[in-house]
Amino acid sequence: MKYSILLTGGAGFIGSHTYLECFEYLKKHFLEDYYDIIVIDNLSNSDLTNLNSLESYFNKKIIFYKNDIIDYISLKNIFLKHNVQYVIHFAGLKAVGESTDEPLKYFSNNLISTLNLLQVMKEVKCKNIVFSSSATVYGIPEKLPITEDTKTSILNPYGRTKLMIEEILIDIFNNTKELNVIILRYFNPISCHPSGILKENPLGKPNNLFPIVSRVYQGLYENLSVFGNDYNTHDGTGIRDYIHVVDLAKAHVCALHFLINNKEPILKIYNVGNGKGYSVLELINMFEKIGGKKINYFFAPRREGDAPICFANVDKIKTDLGWCAKYDLEDMVTHEIKRLKYIV
Ligand code: NAD
Ligand code: WQD
Repeated sequence: MKYSILLTGGAGFIGSHTYLECFEYLKKHFLEDYYDIIVIDNLSNSDLTNLNSLESYFNKKIIFYKNDIIDYISLKNIFLKHNVQYVIHFAGLKAVGESTDEPLKYFSNNLISTLNLLQVMKEVKCKNIVFSSSATVYGIPEKLPITEDTKTSILNPYGRTKLMIEEILIDIFNNTKELNVIILRYFNPISCHPSGILKENPLGKPNNLFPIVSRVYQGLYENLSVFGNDYNTHDGTGIRDYIHVVDLAKAHVCALHFLINNKEPILKIYNVGNGKGYSVLELINMFEKIGGKKINYFFAPRREGDAPICFANVDKIKTDLGWCAKYDLEDMVTHEIKRLKYIV
């Protein structure tokens, strides 16, 4: 019987890009006859656009369930029906601001769904999980660049759900050795596949810098606020480690490849970033340079809870999994602008 790789939250931004890279991986290694990729998503922060685009791109029907992973019975049935052996767990709510307004919504969605997932995995003896964590677990980092053993510190309920899930996974591993766990701490994922077929499609208004600058570029917003120009950085604005979503998706494929070939119980935590910081103004300037248009912005006070500078040390994932980012900021902006031309 075929095995399956389950992508929870696979209709979303990172999940859909990972679907594409996983499928390419299976094709390249002649594994299509041995593994299916299954997507479960409740479409609470996405729609079917990305999955439909993937179907056209690969000329292939995607096995998709519009389900909430909080629904234990249907989740278990899907695991049994498809012989799921590997899980990449993207599903979760991710808006920091909303999590401070509605903490309970975040705790119940992100935690209960994960507990359910882990319960089902235990019952059906599915032993491999890759978990989407976040650099948010470092809070305002105490040292730079951030290594995986940098002290964690939580600034909001969203971040707490990520750290709590990490701790649950670590406890299960340490006490049972029955679950192989790879935790990926993403830095700031942006951009899109160079083909332009996939996109970040949050329902409602975006809160992150890149989609906001992109909307100003498109003329959908008149301008944007730059939160703080008095940080101790070269141009006074905040610095982040932006990572191309395709590079990030490939990190999941490396993790999957490792799990498929692994024979020992393993628990690993990896930073996934570029290892390089760019300021808010550098990102805006890159849109102006590549897009040939002025981006209107004004300086506003610092946003509460923002770290001045955040970038990763990515040596560990490079050494263990052989992964490193290929794309720089110029590529990230170029691919976004190309996608916008393609949809016009
Ligand atoms: P996304 O919102 O585009 O994708 C998440 C998907 O999960 C959505 O399609 C949503 O509908 C689905 N979902 C949410 N709760 C669900 C549930 N209970 N059952 C089934 N489906 C559910 O977000 P993304 O940017 O692709 O992020 C994927 C994961 O990566 C999330 O866990 C997020 O916290 C984490 N992460 C994202 C970022 C980022 O900046 N995008 C950074 C660090 C970590
Ligand atoms: C980047 C920089 C802002 C908006 C968030 C989450 C984190 C992770 C990734 C999920 C900062 C500045 C922003 C704007 C601005 N997500 N900015 N004007 O805050 O680093 O990380 O997304 O896990 O948990 O917190 O990303 O894109 O919001 O901000 O000046 O309108 O852009 O101050 O310096 P952040 P961001």
